[in-house]
Amino acid sequence: MCGIVGYIGNKQALPIILNGLKRLEYRGYDSSGVATYNGSTIVSCKSKGKINKLEKSIAKRKNLNGKLGIGHTRWATHGVPNDINAHPQFSNSNNLCLVHNGIIENYSSIKESLIKKGYEFHSETDTEVLVNLIEFVKEKENVKLGEAVQIALQKVVGAYAIAVIDNNKPDEIVVAKLGSPLCIGVGKEEHFIGSDATPFLEFTKKVIYLEDGELAVIRNHKSTIFRKTKDDTTFSPVINNLELSLDKIEKQGFDHYMLKEIYEQPKAIRDTLRGRIIAEKGVIKLSGLDDYIDKFLSAKKITIIACGTSWHSALVAEYMFEKIAKIPVEVEYASEFRYREPVIGKEDIVLAISQSGETADTLAAIKLAKEKGAFIYGICNVVGSSIARESDTGSYTHAGPEIGVASTKAFTTQMTVLYLMAVKLSKSKGIISEQIYRKYILEISRIDKKIHKILASNDIIKKVAKKIKGSKNCLYLGRGYNFPIALEGALKLKEISYIHAEGYPAAEMKHGPIALIDKNMPTIVIATNKINYDKIVSNIQEIKSRKGQIIAIVSKGDKEVKKIADYTIEVPDSIESITPFITVIPLQLLSYHIAVMLGKNVDQPRNLAKSVTVE
Ligand code: F6R
Repeated sequence: MCGIVGYIGNKQALPIILNGLKRLEYRGYDSSGVATYNGSTIVSCKSKGKINKLEKSIAKRKNLNGKLGIGHTRWATHGVPNDINAHPQFSNSNNLCLVHNGIIENYSSIKESLIKKGYEFHSETDTEVLVNLIEFVKEKENVKLGEAVQIALQKVVGAYAIAVIDNNKPDEIVVAKLGSPLCIGVGKEEHFIGSDATPFLEFTKKVIYLEDGELAVIRNHKSTIFRKTKDDTTFSPVINNLELSLDKIEKQGFDHYMLKEIYEQPKAIRDTLRGRIIAEKGVIKLSGLDDYIDKFLSAKKITIIACGTSWHSALVAEYMFEKIAKIPVEVEYASEFRYREPVIGKEDIVLAISQSGETADTLAAIKLAKEKGAFIYGICNVVGSSIARESDTGSYTHAGPEIGVASTKAFTTQMTVLYLMAVKLSKSKGIISEQIYRKYILEISRIDKKIHKILASNDIIKKVAKKIKGSKNCLYLGRGYNFPIALEGALKLKEISYIHAEGYPAAEMKHGPIALIDKNMPTIVIATNKINYDKIVSNIQEIKSRKGQIIAIVSKGDKEVKKIADYTIEVPDSIESITPFITVIPLQLLSYHIAVMLGKNVDQPRNLAKSVTVE
């Protein structure tokens, strides 16, 4: 995820663009850049780090004046965050300059063919490939910029929102979108561009939301919108009047980043799967794993190290790897592993899971495992982060920036990568048939729809939250795949509502925690039908006989638990290994609503930080 800003009009572009980029920093902040047309040529300035670093670099420059410009704040996907990979990217002739949000999936084949035609590349980005493809088309077809963009984009597979400017035609900006957001602010003899409307909210409330496959040529006085296909005619865009406040728009209408990120999960999982599965052909492509498949196949065991929520996804992976791929797994807290003198060596594979890729304990644990000769596979969200760099190979989760301190979409996308690994390894080991393999792929490809269904039950979950928000303690129970989800549910509640909560494997309850049960103690039981259902029903009976309150997460159509539980929340049915993706969603929402009802700072809970870079 990245942020795009642009301006064309009678004002100085630079301050508008910089201000806009700050508003979009939530979309990524590993590097940023601007380019303006200064009356004689396009000039740019780029910098690794947040916008304030870019501002410092700009302060040393004098030639960035001008009334047309584009800007970008980056969440790296292709290539580590540095000045060279930052946007804008220029074409070989230096005439075209482009900013991009999205992923060009077929960029390497386009790059190869451009190299054969004599093009040179300086960055590792897919964006530099795109700007050169546009230049190539423009010269070959002898067409205007808008048309060249239109033709070039027909050769591209992936998602994009782009803004392009041309040294030879410095009175227009061409923008286009597919999959990534882009809107145009319409002012008086001026136009603004943004990934959302926040960059220009103080200048105009009139906004055109570009639809997928549309392209616009924007000039001071007029913006002309085209469909992507060359033959299609232009049309008058719908101009919307914004009513939202700045604050709301940054969160895309959600009250908190956490809620936005909970709702983003279907898309985040789709992004994690993009280019990695072809459901109809039964293909899983996970390059980090594919390149080292023999190492995995000969490994006696896999050790997974992580902290917090990432440690919970590691516990889910233990079930996935052992049940699906029959590979023994040990899950370790990174903070314990690093001081435990673990017996680990050359034949061992260590999987490190981290959203930020900067967690100090996980990083130190990796370094220790490496020293002992282990092979490191990193699963991170932040591209170019320390853990990603320190790993021998790995997979990014592509969840986009997670701003709410309580991890939500990072968790489900980590599980997505781990699921793909387990299924791929199982097939490679010859454990599952082609038919079952395809079933697994099909199930994960449909998970987004199931999550949408749970999100639609938000009102029911909110009502349950109201009933238990006054509790001092809560117990979370689950079995099998749902045991780590019980732990994760309890962690979510603790960290944002400050209610004490504990997660347990349901059967462990009678070895101690049952002593806590009374009418004031709610127990959240994950009781979906595939996982030891009868045993869970017995556990629920045991709690009810002690007057405990039961909130049960049940599969759609459940009859038995519904008869005994105080409140039930239904989730769609699924195969066993998909269950954790489904059951965690209502628990995230439950914690969120309780915290909001208690007036807590959901996005920045006390004492916590998004990235724990100290021991
Ligand atoms: C909880 C949470 C933390 C992190 C933990 C590890 O909601 O966010 O428990 O999961 O600090 O962080 P990463 O995944 O960045 O290594």
